[in-house]
Amino acid sequence: MMRKSDILYIIKLVEGCGLTMIKAIILAAGKGTRMKSNIPKVMHKVNGMPMLVRIFNTLSQVGISTENLITVLGDKKEYIIKNISEISYVVQEEQLGTGHAVKIAKKYFENFDGGVIITYGDAPLIKKSTYEKLIFDFNKGQSGAVIVTTHLENPFGYGRVIKNAQGEVERVVEEKDASVQEKKITEINTGLYCINAKKLAYYIEQVKNNNVKNEYYLTDVVELMYQAGEGVSTLEIEEFEQMVGVNDKVQLAEVSEVLRREKNRELMESGVILIDPSHTYIEESVQIGQDTVVYPNTFITGDTHIGTNTVILEGSRIENSKIGSHVKIKSSVIEESIVEDYSDVGPFAHLRPLAHLKEHVHVGNFVEVKKSTLEKGVKCGHLTYIGDASVGEGTNIGCGTITCNYDGKKKYQTIIGKNNFIGSDTKFVAPVKTGDNVLVGAGTVLNRDIPSDCLVVGRPALTVKENYFKK
Ligand code: UD1
Ligand code: CA
Repeated sequence: MMRKSDILYIIKLVEGCGLTMIKAIILAAGKGTRMKSNIPKVMHKVNGMPMLVRIFNTLSQVGISTENLITVLGDKKEYIIKNISEISYVVQEEQLGTGHAVKIAKKYFENFDGGVIITYGDAPLIKKSTYEKLIFDFNKGQSGAVIVTTHLENPFGYGRVIKNAQGEVERVVEEKDASVQEKKITEINTGLYCINAKKLAYYIEQVKNNNVKNEYYLTDVVELMYQAGEGVSTLEIEEFEQMVGVNDKVQLAEVSEVLRREKNRELMESGVILIDPSHTYIEESVQIGQDTVVYPNTFITGDTHIGTNTVILEGSRIENSKIGSHVKIKSSVIEESIVEDYSDVGPFAHLRPLAHLKEHVHVGNFVEVKKSTLEKGVKCGHLTYIGDASVGEGTNIGCGTITCNYDGKKKYQTIIGKNNFIGSDTKFVAPVKTGDNVLVGAGTVLNRDIPSDCLVVGRPALTVKENYFKK
């Protein structure tokens, strides 16, 4: 349910957005030395998704599509370009400061009638609502720039926001350049801005590097704009948690935890039961229906949909799969598979890619299924391998049954008809096929097609030599 205040906000937002267009620049050229990694910092995953991709997604939710988005790359750029095909980027060969990075992207916004959001590639927690507020404030004000700030008890390390007596932003001073007095200021620059594109293009050219770090500071644009009377306003936010940047693997884990907590809360609010949410790992892309119960130490990832009233017992891993309603998954691994309503899997079963269990299928302990369809009501209780097969409705597969689908070079199909009763330890030497209502004796090596309604027994004759032991 939407609250009235939300609706009013949206109305304001729509009005506020007017016709102003927004582009965005993501700064992601930094070396990320503290990550101690061969993978570029912004490609590290937070709750299953690369930070940069997460930022792209959030921006696209506020209407900034990839063609209005430019990323400044530097360190390990090849890896990023290779892994995100839709990225448009500029390369900053040497990291000479945030101002320098924005200047390199200038040709993408210098003739643009609208605002440019500047954000960091290592700050993946910034909420959609924060970007919306920023756009709203940019549009509503006559301001040439809006800078997102917050108050911190311990502002150490951040740029401090210096305001004049009227409360207008005069400039931002970096920790290293700040006087003792300035260091006492607790309002800090979060590093997120929206700036009039043409003004940004104009003032960025004037930024110098005469500071302690000899860097070109983007924040100097603020001062230049203030001096020229362009008007800079602040958007003060309360939850600073969303602004944190990831600098090392400790923060990477912390940010993932924040996202997991949010996802789990969302799921519980929508009616999912999590026995112990702090030990349940569900990626954002996952959908789960009401009254489904998820036990701890379970990983549910990728494009996974789970229906209602299903139970996922402890220690399960489910990736890119569709699980129906009233299903029971007991401590099993499921990859790229479909499990339809009222079926149950495990404990300790493995559904490998393209396993499809229709309704009321039972796959028990230590069973592996790969690229196979088990029609309605199939039972396969114990220690079985079914690969490249289709199993007809109502068929019962005994313990230890194996489809021998591979001759070392190629894979072959096994087709088992409806209502078969397959004795324990049967081997289907594929390609092979049975009709409907076939009974197969235990231990049979089935290496030719069997028509419907047969009994098949093919096991080595038993040799019994009496009184042999003493000899
Ligand atoms: C910056 C702000 C500071 C603010 C803080 C918030 C400046 C001068 N200072 O400081 O006021 O409080 O962010 O976190 O802007 N980057 C590039 N190319 C560069 C330099 C940086 O792409 O040449 C990228 C980095 O990869 C990083 C981001 O810009 O993602 C921020 O750079 P960083 O050096 O961490 O800025 P801070 O010194 O923290
Ligand atoms: Ca930083």
